[in-house]
Amino acid sequence: MEIIRSVEWMKDAARTAESKERLIGFVPTMGALHEGHLSLVRAAKQQCSPVVVSIFVNPAQFGPGEDLAGYPRNLEHDCHLLEALGVDYVFAPDTAEIYPAGFRTSVRVDGLSEKFEGRIRPGHFQGVCTVVLKLLEIVRPRFAYFGRKDAQQAHIVRQMVSDLNLDAEIVVCPIVREADGLAMSSRNAYLDGEQRRAATALYRSLDAARRKIEAGARGAGEILDEVHTVLDSEPLAKLDYAATVAADSFEITHFLTGSCLLLIAARVGSTRLIDNMFIEERDGSFSAVL
Ligand code: PAF
Repeated sequence: MEIIRSVEWMKDAARTAESKERLIGFVPTMGALHEGHLSLVRAAKQQCSPVVVSIFVNPAQFGPGEDLAGYPRNLEHDCHLLEALGVDYVFAPDTAEIYPAGFRTSVRVDGLSEKFEGRIRPGHFQGVCTVVLKLLEIVRPRFAYFGRKDAQQAHIVRQMVSDLNLDAEIVVCPIVREADGLAMSSRNAYLDGEQRRAATALYRSLDAARRKIEAGARGAGEILDEVHTVLDSEPLAKLDYAATVAADSFEITHFLTGSCLLLIAARVGSTRLIDNMFIEERDGSFSAVL
């Protein structure tokens, strides 16, 4: 496995792979890797060779007062994990390599970037889109892999790829959960013992909503009541938002129809956590995938 620090070197490696008609698979990350990331790498390995993983804590997607400085970083450990999975290249540039002095451009997907996560974290998705566009241009993958835990991010990136006629196909992979249901996230490392227990309220609230749907509920109000009941009974968790949206537009939906997502975000202590559930209609009945 090669660890690449410079944009030019990464572009060279990508050009070489392209010239041999090889299918580049790409997993963009900010490091602090967990099973969720590794599941994306495994999906990439099944479809592509070579596989490139980027590790770059992107300052542009953190707002003032957010956790940029304290974001967990452990390049050496991450590289061990990736090497064991047979990754070909780790692209780990420093900040000046991606944002050299004088950098001025940014990319915004209007209409999708201002709601839910974007309302609470203004500028976040602009930062994500800017770096993802740069990374896609540098790595030139055929497939790029994102996790469904960050469903709004995956949706916005897909929109950007389509709007800008980029070549990469965005593959969205299932959420990976701990044994007690908590969605894996690098930010789970911030939780102390009590908070870690309380954080399962997100999963438990979605699971309660799932049961309500499977019992026949179709109205967003009655489904979201289940989420509120579970989260309101957890004193350490504070709900930021819960909403049902159409999966193909992220528009709020008041009744389940077609494919939907139930999105939730909550604070446990000072840690923000997000989670979601995919709800799919088949032959008139709905099933929910956590
Ligand atoms: O999901 C993440 O880890 C980041 O938002 C990403 C896609 C690597 C861009 O910095």
